[in-house]
Amino acid sequence: MSIAIVTGGASGIGRAIATSLVARGDTVVVTDIDTEGAGRVADKLNTLGTGQAASARLDVTDADAVNDLYKGVKGDHGRLDLVFNNAGIAIGGLAEELTLDHWNRAIDINLKGVVHGVHAAYPIMLEQGGGHIVNTASLAGLVPMPIGIPYTATKHAVVGLSLGLRAEAAGRGVKVSVVCPSFVDTPLLHNVNPGLPETALSGDATGDIAKAAPGLYTTQKLARDIMRGIARNQALIVAPAYGRAAWRGVRLNPGLAVRAAQIAVDRVRGGKN
Ligand SMILES: NC(=O)c1ccc[n+]([C@@H]2O[C@H](COP(=O)([O-])OP(=O)(O)OC[C@H]3O[C@@H](n4cnc5c(N)ncnc54)[C@H](O)[C@@H]3O)[C@@H](O)[C@H]2O)c1
Repeated sequence: MSIAIVTGGASGIGRAIATSLVARGDTVVVTDIDTEGAGRVADKLNTLGTGQAASARLDVTDADAVNDLYKGVKGDHGRLDLVFNNAGIAIGGLAEELTLDHWNRAIDINLKGVVHGVHAAYPIMLEQGGGHIVNTASLAGLVPMPIGIPYTATKHAVVGLSLGLRAEAAGRGVKVSVVCPSFVDTPLLHNVNPGLPETALSGDATGDIAKAAPGLYTTQKLARDIMRGIARNQALIVAPAYGRAAWRGVRLNPGLAVRAAQIAVDRVRGGKN
């Protein structure tokens, strides 16, 4: 039975991860900037009759709050086995439409949110001699995803920091994995650029995604992949299969992958005109 923290646990992928953990008997602290949403998820999970859930408000952009929460969980339970630095937002739009606010919000939540989680969890896990840090990046962290390059940039950074840390942590008993899903059916895809200036992709992006991708993956299937990847201590958990094929394509022929991405840009530009 593990003690786990999930950020962004009120919705989507984080909620599915928390559900899988509690279903197998773990104790999970479901955290989110959405306090009520996190509470609702924890209440529901406590009816499963297996593990246990608690909830807490946590804004991952607040480094001190992240540190306090992770230390508090370690203090309450005597250890911290699993940390899912998962909270994130979607940023979309052509580069010329994006403001520095789009860039800064992506960096603050998608990158620095993970940095804060790693910075808080890693010393705890080093001290206790074990643990597993699981960061949610995206397939956009492995392939040249256009029309939202702040998202692409921050997700590449999360992949890089995770794999670099994994190499450092391996000799110290701490495991690090990074999750790179393609499009998953969650509210994130209906809420691109939350609270930010409008672009061609603001709001509901599912129509544009349907033109560029074979379909949406489910959170349940992804959570199953993540649990299996953790059990196998996979460095990268890339899903579904078409995402792994796209990633392979980039490694084999990066130039061709960029040209394929151009087709998606043309479709969005075409839709705009
Ligand atoms: N849905 C997809 O297609 C997809 C694909 C690849 C990667 N991802 C990544 O998966 C992760 C989870 O996304 P999701 O699809 O489940 O989205 P979601 O919108 O369903 O859930 C994200 C959660 O993060 C929370 N959040 C936002 N800002 C926060 C902050 N500052 N502090 C704490 N919590 C905050 C939201 O309140 C929400 O509950 C994100 O990092 C996202 O980039 C999603």
